[in-house]
Amino acid sequence: MLRTHSCGELGIEQIGQTVTLAGWVNRRRDMGGIIFIDLRDREGKTQVTVNASRSQSAFNAAENVRPEFVLQVRGEVTRRPAGQENPEMVTGEIEILSDEIVILNQAKTPPIPIERDESVDEALRLKYRFLDLRRPRMQRNLQIRHKAIKFIRDFLDERGFLEIETPILFKSTPEGARDYLVPSRVHPGKFYALPQSPQQLKQLLMVGGLDKYYQIARCFRDEDQRADRQPEFTQLDLEMSFVERDDILSLIEEMMVGMVNMTSIVPLASELFPRLTHAEALERFGTDRPDMRYGLELVDVSDIVGKSAFRVFAENVAAGRPAKAICVPGCASYSRKQMEELEAIAREAGAKGLAWMAIDEETDQMRGFITKFFDVDQLTALVDRLDAQPGDLLLFSSDEPRTVYSVLGALREEMASRLGYKEKNELAFVWIVDFPLFEEEMEEGHYAPSHHMFTAPQQKYIPLLDSDPRAVLSEQYDLVCNGYEVGGGSIRIHDRELQQKIMALIGLTPKMARDQFGHLLDAFEYGTPPHGGIAPGIDRLVMLMAGEPNIREVMAFPKSQNAADLMADAPSSVDQRQLDDLQITLNLKAEL
Ligand code: AMO
Repeated sequence: MLRTHSCGELGIEQIGQTVTLAGWVNRRRDMGGIIFIDLRDREGKTQVTVNASRSQSAFNAAENVRPEFVLQVRGEVTRRPAGQENPEMVTGEIEILSDEIVILNQAKTPPIPIERDESVDEALRLKYRFLDLRRPRMQRNLQIRHKAIKFIRDFLDERGFLEIETPILFKSTPEGARDYLVPSRVHPGKFYALPQSPQQLKQLLMVGGLDKYYQIARCFRDEDQRADRQPEFTQLDLEMSFVERDDILSLIEEMMVGMVNMTSIVPLASELFPRLTHAEALERFGTDRPDMRYGLELVDVSDIVGKSAFRVFAENVAAGRPAKAICVPGCASYSRKQMEELEAIAREAGAKGLAWMAIDEETDQMRGFITKFFDVDQLTALVDRLDAQPGDLLLFSSDEPRTVYSVLGALREEMASRLGYKEKNELAFVWIVDFPLFEEEMEEGHYAPSHHMFTAPQQKYIPLLDSDPRAVLSEQYDLVCNGYEVGGGSIRIHDRELQQKIMALIGLTPKMARDQFGHLLDAFEYGTPPHGGIAPGIDRLVMLMAGEPNIREVMAFPKSQNAADLMADAPSSVDQRQLDDLQITLNLKAEL
């Protein structure tokens, strides 16, 4: 080894020892006959003191070093002079009196600051990711990620799970996004698809009798990027045989609690994860991934506003459409401009306008355009129902249920941000269960699966598959944390006939079903055990545990917002020879 210790471990116990450290120059201060160098590696920083009177050669070397040079330093550990200790540094009680300095490598001036944790343009950070990785933030985040994955592996190993790899070159696995395709040279004109998840493979492992499987699995989805989405990301993919929903939920809950307690910077809100049905989540929070760190719940006011003279509401309620409201504390004095901002958000979410009432903090009087359509009893009933106080702002929506959810769900999020509720430093997990099997009717008689097509309908709803598919509830469950979907799974179909029926309902002809999923359908005829599983998203979990605003901060080499690797400049053009091998001719619509 080129070193005897790391830069983060020396203390007063080592005083008097001769040690060798290696690392990067974090900072260099020249005080005349004496030079101070903060030497940095992954574990921390140590102050090296170079005195010409102790070693002229070390001093000569130190005179030439600049930030990010790589040094090997030999010297003696000593206590820092009284008053010069640095309580901010783990090694702040000691320094190394250097006898020898070897410059292992030189460095140009880095294009991004490394020693200071200031904000830097992200494109520049991604281009020089190898330098960005040296910064304390990335070092910390990747350590959290490592610890989380190690915890998961140990936890599942103790419970009899096998870690099994599945192919990356595979066949299209539908999870709702576009596939990344890989052309085959050996089979010209044919393509592999990179897995959107190992869904079919893990089910086939259950058919194969492997019983309890997991994998830290890389998944690939060609979809629009967001703060919590990357084209390639990592799941803890897991599947078990002979289980019911609650077996998976309690296993994952125990694992999450252990993992967060062991590795997270942000603490758990509660070790018991509440469960909401999908319907309840929508009714109360307007979304199936509610942020449970705060209330601001949607409250049904249909019966009250339905009797008012406000025509829009009265007509909606008469037609069976709901009216709901949220009560926002302390925002009664919002200006016209602020209300316009909220209205724009409501419109964006599908509303035709925004009805509101404000309760004056001082006078207790209600104001807002719609107030005049309500009599005193109705206003009192509203205030009671919403538990509103002077100074509160009431925001209303009445429309088709899904519009009411999206409008008030969006306003709830917005107001939570404005009120600082989203800064609450805790992880609030919640399970969402009893999802509808299908999301929507895409076209006459064809439905999009809410999770994926392998999810089992709940037993008691199976008869409804023929008469009213949209009323069928499924065995899907999602794990949500602070408003992010951090995992999704289900108990699966293990019966060929039922699987074919669902495939038909989502619009696959028998031929398409056979061509795409023949292997799975066949497998179902050879003794498939009842099984189920889940796939927590590792990147999103680590992002939340590290208190980061996006998943790029917890990935070593993420893609940019438009799915590019800015460091290696991928994707890139390839040689004509490579295309010729693949028998591919480009026919690009856009200019290169
Ligand atoms: P699903 O598609 O819900 O389920 O994905 C599971 C979890 O993976 C994470 N995730 C992502 N993370 C980062 N970037 C993305 N583009 C991205 N897409 C998804 C989320 C999500 O909850 N095969 C099923 C699981 C199963 O049924 O067992 C599946 O992939 O945290």
